[in-house]
Amino acid sequence: MSDTLNWTSYVDTKAQAEHDRLTLLQEIFDPFSARLLDRVGVRPGSQCLEVGAGAGSVARMLAERAGAANVTATDMSTDFLAPLASSGIRVLHHDVVVDEQPGEFDVIHSRFVLEHVTRRDEALRRMASWLKPGGWLVVECATPVPELSSDPAVRRALAAMAALMARSIGTDPAWARTLPVPLENAGLVDCTADGHTIPVRGGGALARWLTATHRLIEEPALASGAITADDLAAAYATYATPTYVDYTWLTIGAMGRRAG
Ligand SMILES: C[S@@+](CC[C@H](N)C(=O)[O-])C[C@H]1O[C@@H](n2cnc3c(N)ncnc32)[C@H](O)[C@@H]1O
Repeated sequence: MSDTLNWTSYVDTKAQAEHDRLTLLQEIFDPFSARLLDRVGVRPGSQCLEVGAGAGSVARMLAERAGAANVTATDMSTDFLAPLASSGIRVLHHDVVVDEQPGEFDVIHSRFVLEHVTRRDEALRRMASWLKPGGWLVVECATPVPELSSDPAVRRALAAMAALMARSIGTDPAWARTLPVPLENAGLVDCTADGHTIPVRGGGALARWLTATHRLIEEPALASGAITADDLAAAYATYATPTYVDYTWLTIGAMGRRAG
């Protein structure tokens, strides 16, 4: 068990509900990830690494561009990655903070992982050191912005979720807002970052994913008093209301290149 992260002790990474939540996440966020991959240019034969591959959609996008045999997908929990292995992608049970270097790569990508890793700057430096000269590191991190919500119950639910995940997993939602400086500190060049936000529309994919993510921490949130049952029920009702629109979820996509 890693001393760096409580993810697998906190989230049931074998459960169908978690697979469904990750599948929804992919549906929502893959288009932005695809644009980032297109910007760095993944070519046939590019050696690619997907860190914290989850249910595997970004590794599949890398395989479409580079060829399956050139893609490595890692995660601390590889249960959802079996179909990738069958398609020729190399799947590794691997902790980005402590396990040995999985190879040398032209493109390394990671989405919604480093904010949950307590030694995230160290992990980032390690990933940068696994790049070939000229290779690109692409990092996507999420930062919820409860203060932007028009709905008080949603505001409180998002804030409770951030507080609970900080306490239980070590998640730092504010780290995303420092990008691309951590990439520069890791010695990379040509570093840039973009913020991306899509509407949380009642009943839509992002609202359903947020509901599922709130449910993940519902029990400890209620037990600790971080949020009341009434507020949580009100937030769920809002997320299911088709006329509700909000912009409370920001993804930062950052990239940097190893000189050479
Ligand atoms: C929020 S999920 C994101 C999954 C996937 N990257 C995506 O965006 O579809 C976070 C993933 O990071 C993995 N993870 C967490 N800590 C990790 C670590 N130290 N090393 C490798 N993977 C890790 C988790 O097991 C989980 O699959």
